[in-house]
Amino acid sequence: MVGGLPTDLQFDLQKYGTMAFPESIPFSPAGDKLPITQGDFRDFAADPIAEMRKLHAEHGSLALLQDGFKKVAFAFGPVWNQPVLSNAQDFHSMFFAIRGSRKSSLRRLTSGLLSMNDDEHREHRRMLMGPFARKSFEKYFEGINQLTHDMLNDWQVGETRDILAEMTQFMLRVTSGMLFGLDNPEFAYNLGHMLHEWVQMNHEIGTGAFVADAKYTDRYEDLLNLSDELEIQLKTLLEMKRQDPGDGNDVLSILLAAYAEEKIVDENKLMGHIALLFAAAHLTTAHTFTWTFLLLSQHPDVMQELHAELQAGVLADPFNPNSTETLLDRILKESMRVLPASAYSQRICARDLTLGPLQLAKGTPVVFSQYMTHHMAALYPEPDKFIPDRWLQIKPSPYAYLPFGTGPRMCIGGPLAMVILKMVIPQVLSRFKLSAIPGSTINGRVISTMLTPTSTVPLLLEEQDGNFRSAPVEGSIHQLVEFPAEAKSARRAA
Ligand code: HEM
Repeated sequence: MVGGLPTDLQFDLQKYGTMAFPESIPFSPAGDKLPITQGDFRDFAADPIAEMRKLHAEHGSLALLQDGFKKVAFAFGPVWNQPVLSNAQDFHSMFFAIRGSRKSSLRRLTSGLLSMNDDEHREHRRMLMGPFARKSFEKYFEGINQLTHDMLNDWQVGETRDILAEMTQFMLRVTSGMLFGLDNPEFAYNLGHMLHEWVQMNHEIGTGAFVADAKYTDRYEDLLNLSDELEIQLKTLLEMKRQDPGDGNDVLSILLAAYAEEKIVDENKLMGHIALLFAAAHLTTAHTFTWTFLLLSQHPDVMQELHAELQAGVLADPFNPNSTETLLDRILKESMRVLPASAYSQRICARDLTLGPLQLAKGTPVVFSQYMTHHMAALYPEPDKFIPDRWLQIKPSPYAYLPFGTGPRMCIGGPLAMVILKMVIPQVLSRFKLSAIPGSTINGRVISTMLTPTSTVPLLLEEQDGNFRSAPVEGSIHQLVEFPAEAKSARRAA
């Protein structure tokens, strides 16, 4: 041990990080005072970010919250993200919501990649990666462009649109088309709609995975019923695809073919994958669009520069998710840093193990957090501010910047999500100027694991004239991100 850190971690940080050492260790190396605190898991469920901030302020980057006999460990920042996220053998993945009894449709629908570990996870992940490799997803571009045109043709100058609803609708159509095929858009859309409700419900009562509270579990019965209906629809779809694979370009057709080739015919697993892919893809990307448009509406100077870049025909390379070359690259990096769609996630200890000074029993959940890591001042000075050009100077390690997670369970759709964002944002901004409505209330909070706008996000659509002004908004958004002083003082005056 050097300076209280295991030497291999220090070595790894040197290997990956080009920045100052992230933050000091919160306890003495002698481990005389363990970061254990009594608490109520319901507080975490009600407001995960507030509770994680409290734990971080009291205990530093490692804490153990105990409620009765139950314990949950919290690991914040790159030092602890590294072991928790790279050691998939000891830290198992667990589906974020309640999974239902063994024979329930809910259990089968939640049997996708997130519920798999070890060899099974590796094998299925390899198969699922196919449709998300660059050469595969180029064939979705035409459909995405068409859906973008359809959305923009529906928008009128002078209207106010809830950009959250718009981008959720848009991603619902994009995801349904990619997963199930654009040749039968109506069926795909209806199924997508049902999946959307199912995902929302999973997130809403997902917190029940941590706490047994009627507030979260009363709707469990509804979730079971919806799962039954959804399973019937998915089975119909599988049958339809087997009868008539269409052009075979959608993810489901590719997976069906791969499954047939590898002679794995567990239909339940396939349905679990489809449900998870839908769940993982559409809301995360819709929220990233929404947060990015909101941030731009509050930062006219950044928007002005982006407009000039787009006017000059400088486009971000959609196939290089790590690029910081164009302003749009940096805007997306910074948007996903300051308001990451996935705010935290968890692992389960697969055996009794030690994390720093903590002895964790098999089965103990370990929470890690993108939001907390991305808001550490030692890694990102003025962490609550949206400063895209900070990316010209920094190159954080994969454990310090992880909007798509990192390690063997890193998001398989990240590159595709970046392509969609980089394709669509310039098209929207070349047709419309999006401005906030003065005095509108924008709320956001973590629901289950996702950082979600919990109000509408109304933006005014205007002719794109290249003149940008911000407008002050109200709401809990100000607890998540700091807007420029101008917008804040106008907010106080309003
Ligand atoms: C901006 C959009 C997205 C964000 C922010 C995001 C974020 C994440 C994060 C943080 C994880 C890791 C969770 C963990 O370690 O516990 C993850 C995993 C995953 N994501 Fe995404 N995601 C996005 C889009 C997508 C898309 C478009 C797809 C598929 C079409 C997708 C499919 C998956 C899958 C299947 C996993 C599980 C990987 C595994 O367990 O091996 N995601 N995502």
